[in-house]
Amino acid sequence: MSTHQVSPVVWPTRFSQIPKEVFVRPDVFEAEHERILYGPEWHPVAHAAEIPNKGDFKTFVLGKVPLLINRDRDGEIHVFFNTCTHRGTQLEMAVRGNSLTFSCPYHRWSFSEKGELKSCPRKAQGYSPGFSYDKYPLKRPRMAIFEGLIFVSLSEETPDLDSYLGDVKQTLREIMGGDGRLKLIGYQKARYDVNWKGYNDSDSYHAALLHGAFRWMNWEGGQGTQIVDRQRGHIGTSSQMSPPADKGASLLKDASLLEFKATDPSEGSRVIKLFPLFVAVKHFDVINLRFANPISVGQTDVQYAYFAHEDDSPEMVQHRIRQASNLLGPCGFITMEDAAVFSRIQIGSQAPGCAEFQKGVTDALPVDMNFKQNDESSQLLRWDYYRRTMGFQQEGA
Ligand code: FES
Ligand SMILES: [Fe+2]
Repeated sequence: MSTHQVSPVVWPTRFSQIPKEVFVRPDVFEAEHERILYGPEWHPVAHAAEIPNKGDFKTFVLGKVPLLINRDRDGEIHVFFNTCTHRGTQLEMAVRGNSLTFSCPYHRWSFSEKGELKSCPRKAQGYSPGFSYDKYPLKRPRMAIFEGLIFVSLSEETPDLDSYLGDVKQTLREIMGGDGRLKLIGYQKARYDVNWKGYNDSDSYHAALLHGAFRWMNWEGGQGTQIVDRQRGHIGTSSQMSPPADKGASLLKDASLLEFKATDPSEGSRVIKLFPLFVAVKHFDVINLRFANPISVGQTDVQYAYFAHEDDSPEMVQHRIRQASNLLGPCGFITMEDAAVFSRIQIGSQAPGCAEFQKGVTDALPVDMNFKQNDESSQLLRWDYYRRTMGFQQEGA
């Protein structure tokens, strides 16, 4: 991969100030691909429950790199680069589907669902000396799976997934039903007019201030905690919420939307944010994994995948679908409000200066890792990791 030149961003010495130019500079955006998206990080690209049957596949793009994730006839999961090994044509265009062969339209090379090159026109007659099918299987990035969540890394330097996830593994497991035995119930997609870091900077402080739905659930009174991984600043939030006094009857015409059926309300919600892009939440009974990808310096695509647990009754599945589609995604109470703020962050970031963090901020970069449910300071360790990864020096350093 080429090395993108990026002129330095001068970073304030005060760790709680983030220069706004990193949200809007195209050269920074390009350099982030090489150093972060294709750098030593693991990126979730799908959950195994999205491809439950033999032959199921999903395509995804990591940065600009096309991927093909599938399940073979023996039930094994693969991740391939979604590119023909002949001249590089994108192989599969569908977002999801089921197929045991992938055929390239350009010169009709055909691959099995295990990635083997199976046929070429007229049995490869006239091909170069030494050609054989087994020299041209589909190529693969590094892949690892945690409780069904499929991760990809494009760097050989990425540590193993277990150490990469560090302290937040348990939160991630809890979000995915405790064991990752999930059943896909649907998708929603959003394209936000915001730089990926603006999307990912979404904090717990804003929850009850921007979102009425969190106010109803006494978010600000919650005594929950946030665990932050020291290495990369992954954040695992375990928050407390409590249902409104009259179960929401005075707030909503159909208050069943606010019911906790599968979850103990005192457990509130779980949110995990893995550096750089992945977010997963369990709010109420909603199990939601968000696969995001930057489209341009000012646009971010997010695929919201919703799940039930394999052991759910049909009624519970129905409840999860209703709750998920009314709270999250492009037409959900919460997400619409986020989308409006995201685009205003992007507009505001064109003006010079810094984003200033305040809630929970102390005089030094947090080292005790003791964050409260409503702090925004938990974001700062990931910002520090970002700064170091990008090679931006602090003023006077
Ligand atoms: S590029 Fe795929 S068959 Fe030629
Ligand atoms: Fe929000």
